Amino acid sequence: MSGDHTSDARKTAEGLSYLSGFGNEHSSEAVPGALPHGRNSPQRAPLGLYAEQLSGSAFTEPRAHNRRSWLYRIRPSAAHPRFTRVDNGALRTAPFTESVPDPNRLRWNPLPEPAPGTDFVAGLWTLGGNGDATQRTGMGIHLYHANSSMRERVFSDADGELLIVPEHGGLLLRTELGLLHAEPGEVALIPRGVRFRVELLDASARGYVCENYGAPFQLPDLGPIGANGLANARDFRAPVAAYEDVEGPVEVVNKFCGNLWSATYDHSPLDVVAWHGNHVPYVYDLHRFNVIGSISYDHPDPSIFTVLTSPSDTPGLAGVDFVVFAPRWLVGEDTFRPPYFHRNVMSEYMGLIEGAYDAKAEGFVPGGGSLHNMMSAHGPDRETFEKASAAELKPQKIDDGLAFMFETRWPVTATGQAAQAAHLQRGYDDVWQGLERHFRS
Ligand SMILES: [Fe+2]
Repeated sequence: MSGDHTSDARKTAEGLSYLSGFGNEHSSEAVPGALPHGRNSPQRAPLGLYAEQLSGSAFTEPRAHNRRSWLYRIRPSAAHPRFTRVDNGALRTAPFTESVPDPNRLRWNPLPEPAPGTDFVAGLWTLGGNGDATQRTGMGIHLYHANSSMRERVFSDADGELLIVPEHGGLLLRTELGLLHAEPGEVALIPRGVRFRVELLDASARGYVCENYGAPFQLPDLGPIGANGLANARDFRAPVAAYEDVEGPVEVVNKFCGNLWSATYDHSPLDVVAWHGNHVPYVYDLHRFNVIGSISYDHPDPSIFTVLTSPSDTPGLAGVDFVVFAPRWLVGEDTFRPPYFHRNVMSEYMGLIEGAYDAKAEGFVPGGGSLHNMMSAHGPDRETFEKASAAELKPQKIDDGLAFMFETRWPVTATGQAAQAAHLQRGYDDVWQGLERHFRS
């Protein structure tokens, strides 16, 4: 990609303004007067625009869960040619049937360098997941590694919303509803069906994606924590309306029930001049997370670090939780402070955005990831255990790392390519070798 394009994109990204709040009924117009008032679908929409509703929930879902946006656009989305199948590349979709679920603990190094000219869509590589996209349950775990911006190319995902977790390289996301800027340490969410293009702000970009087939992510309830804390709603930023008025060939790639389909439009579908609604993309800076923890003793369960949750039909049992291990103080008295040894009915995929994680002295690196499946035993490595068991328990700031977890109610099946990848670490079990016997009767 050209350096000019990167620096232009960066200039654009750094000049953006946003709307504030999570789940709001936002409204925005890129041209004054483009947004109708008092009704959604007037006989003639302002400025000769077409009115179109984008439904992210069934019409009849309860108001608290109902998601839709009204878009006022140069051409209606219906004006498109036929889609045809294209190669899925390294993208895979649940149900994952090409390998069996593995009870072993697995850990991967970062994805290798992609071929020159690899954009965000071409650079998606599926690690695994669960559920069934056609039943709208479960999730796909993807990594991406790209070295080129998408050009005259747009992507949308009918199978789920995309939670993008950059680990290296900034992204400019041009969506139907406007532009978002996401750097490592921030996350971006693209709702189901919203079309977008990814432009790189650095020579390459690498990160993680949770493709959530289930209920849209929402903020967790706070219970006795009270009215504030964890991820505060006002820190979520939605785009303001911005549109492209481009006549000319644009490839639209549509992920539908596990396959990629492509059509070449004669115009850009990012042509929404005004919109209102709550089915909107957003970005969130993980450094804004208000970390709650123990100020007496014991290591709290990591659910206290939940940023976003996709609820399932059973209260408290998430299809997937997005959890962040952000900088925080540890002050617990008479406490083993790192994460405890654990077996969990939930399955845990962890990634690292920067620095180090306090349960693993080595081997868990930014851009890599680990999978501790349902009931698999995990916990601190030997070095961490020995150090933490002997440490003087002064207040300690954990500020050299940003790790996250996708935690899910169903076991995660690794794809064939992940189970056989050259960057799968052989010998991960050795992390827990040499934990000495200390028992004295
Ligand atoms: Fe765990």
